[in-house]
Amino acid sequence: MCGIAGYIGYRDAYPIIINGLKRLEYRGYDSAGLILYDKETIKLVKTKGKVSDLEEKISDEISVSGKIGFGHTRWATHGVPNDVNSHPHYSESENLVIIHNGIIENYDTIKQVLIKRGYTFKSDTDTEVLINLIEEIKNKENVKLGKAVQLALNEVVGAYAITVFDKTKPDEFVVARLGSPIAIGIGKDNKEFFVASDASPFIEYTKNAIYLEDGEMAIIKIGREVRVRNIKSDSLVNPDVLELKLSLEQIEKGGYDHFMLKEIYEQPKAITDTYRGRMLVNEGLIKMAGIDDNLQKFTTANRIIIVACGTSWHAGLVAEYLFEDIARIPVEVEYGSEFRYRNPIITDKDIVIAISQSGETADTLAAIKMAKEKGAFVFGVCNVVGSSIARESDAGAYTHAGPEIGVASTKAFTTQITVLTLIALKLGLAKGSISKSAYHTYLQEMELIPKKVESLLAINDKVEKIGSIYKNATNFLYLGRGFNFPVALEGALKLKEISYIHAEGYPAAEMKHGPIALIDENMPIVVIATNKGHYEKVVSNIQEIKSRNGKIIAVVTEGDTTVKGIADHIIEIPETEEALTPLLTTIPLQLLSYHIAVMLGKNVDQPRNLAKSVTVE
Ligand code: G6P
Repeated sequence: MCGIAGYIGYRDAYPIIINGLKRLEYRGYDSAGLILYDKETIKLVKTKGKVSDLEEKISDEISVSGKIGFGHTRWATHGVPNDVNSHPHYSESENLVIIHNGIIENYDTIKQVLIKRGYTFKSDTDTEVLINLIEEIKNKENVKLGKAVQLALNEVVGAYAITVFDKTKPDEFVVARLGSPIAIGIGKDNKEFFVASDASPFIEYTKNAIYLEDGEMAIIKIGREVRVRNIKSDSLVNPDVLELKLSLEQIEKGGYDHFMLKEIYEQPKAITDTYRGRMLVNEGLIKMAGIDDNLQKFTTANRIIIVACGTSWHAGLVAEYLFEDIARIPVEVEYGSEFRYRNPIITDKDIVIAISQSGETADTLAAIKMAKEKGAFVFGVCNVVGSSIARESDAGAYTHAGPEIGVASTKAFTTQITVLTLIALKLGLAKGSISKSAYHTYLQEMELIPKKVESLLAINDKVEKIGSIYKNATNFLYLGRGFNFPVALEGALKLKEISYIHAEGYPAAEMKHGPIALIDENMPIVVIATNKGHYEKVVSNIQEIKSRNGKIIAVVTEGDTTVKGIADHIIEIPETEEALTPLLTTIPLQLLSYHIAVMLGKNVDQPRNLAKSVTVE
């Protein structure tokens, strides 16, 4: 959600900013803008629309010279997406300029005070209020920009990642973070610096970066080390300079038409990377430091509460089935947004598992902070290393899926399930709730999953053909039971997100309590009917659909003959343990949504209104 990409140094800033903004497009946005500082003037261009629209506007309006500048992609919160509300925003004097991710909640109160003091506002944004507050403090207190930013941030309530520039001190940026990530890339000998929402905009220039912690700000000045301080306490902080592992190749499409397709195809490798070094099949071992170090806590826990949003919440639902079945631990699965405001009953015998690809989802983050305060032990399952949720957790396990750029989550989901399966098996063995032989069978089967996912990717053309038949349907229903009920939800979510076709996921048996009324000859229904989990019951549900002329796309186990005779289309998955089937049944559903969205001409990687990382509540 919103992206920041900036540069200060000796190179031309424009290509770095524009390419940086393009790499951040995945975060979701509706407008874009930038400033370049050159020959003592600030050049500012912004527009509603895409980064490509910004490029066009720039070529008409300004020369792109300048060694200093920053750009922004905005996902509208306060004020509709239009040119004026886009960032950057000037202060009243136009000496200061800001870009901002997040929300200033008390902006209106501050705005009224500033209006009384003579400030005027061009936009409807909270951001313009913040830059004018900074200017007001700077002038009134006669302090430097850094101090003014710090004092202003101590007056605001909300969340932010900001970059501020002062025309009268053009060799520095002031950046700050609370709730929204900000990375600072450090060039050789401090001769140049980069600021960005993640490291992707500057990965080819430097491998050294500082990630600001919540509540920290930094003054970035050419020729000197970055100075970081705590915004509240004013104490200086000695920041960790991390060595980035990200490579350019990982964030490029690599010959695929879309990131989403690339990421779907990366799943065999991503799943392998997730269990590599953790699952030692021959030794019959699962090694996970975050669990090993806290094994007793897990085995004696009263219950596990899983908090997550979106696709990660669906992975949490799969985990509910896994933990209860394999490890016999009661599980509740909660939306971060509901849990945090519900005054839930939490004790120190509860374990909260937060699942998040980005590790930045505001509601999940707030939920674990609350759970920690109430005494729970928090375990994070994140993909992005060093992300806020990963840092806030008491222990955790990374999914190692590699960067996921398509807004619709794919490999993050299957790798989350992989990690959660390993945890369930480890706990099941430790508690004695699963036999040694069943445990070994699971490990052996798990090792075969990547190959089986590969075999499913090989039927891509078949899935595309099915998609072409139903691409104009206005509603889809997805049904599954047991371990595959969450997969039905996830299949429906994928279709909604990228094709904008209405789709609902339902437990197959619940169909009779509502959705059955929708079924007619125009309704495609995707039913997951693998051979182990409640197979006969699902077959009955399929019969019920057939009797009402619904069009059935069935995902079945290889060799199935019963459903073949009833369904309109059959997609076969290889045989595996029932608990592992979500790792396979998900694949064709991802491909189905992908192809339908492509055929409908939708923007698959950046669907309208959606953001990859939802850093506001
Ligand atoms: C957004 C994304 C989804 C994602 C959800 C949770 O809605 O578009 O793909 O599942 O956030 O994100 P997280 O990073 O916490 O897994």
